[in-house]
Amino acid sequence: MIMKRFASIAFAGMLAAGFLAQADTAAAKEKAIDNYNLYCVQCHGTKGTGRGINAPALSVQPRNHASAKDMESLTDASVAKAIKEGGIAVAKSTQMPPFGGILSEEEIADMVKHLRVMCKCEGKK
Ligand code: HEC
Repeated sequence: MIMKRFASIAFAGMLAAGFLAQADTAAAKEKAIDNYNLYCVQCHGTKGTGRGINAPALSVQPRNHASAKDMESLTDASVAKAIKEGGIAVAKSTQMPPFGGILSEEEIADMVKHLRVMCKCEGKK
């Protein structure tokens, strides 16, 4: 009897943990979209095509995040590095600013996932 009760409590616990894990991923996805809209659209554009309101003023054009052709040549690690440390860290333009002081490691990892959704592509292995 006690064992049975324990088992059902453990089962309820597992269900709750599963639910929380799922809620977490949905929240992480939304947070990545929020962060993109806050920090990236000025240059990369609201659709990620690289045509943000600041783009005409830049001498190097922002990456088109919606293009599989543009994005699949980059590894996830180098995309994360570009976001964290800026274009200069991956031998690209300094006009891509560093976000390591604004976004946490986790937010950067979630942003990389969001960019992969935008380009409908996987990173180079
Ligand atoms: C001030 C304008 C600006 C902002 C804001 C900006 N970017 Fe960029 N980004 C650029 C430019 C310009 C490039 C192209 C650099 C190059 O090709 O030399 C670039 C390139 C990139 C690349 C490709 C790097 C590579 O290795 O080719 C990624 C990924 C990227 N940006 C992600 C982001 C994300 C995510 C944000 C928001 C957190 C963001 N950028 C905000 C200007 C910007």
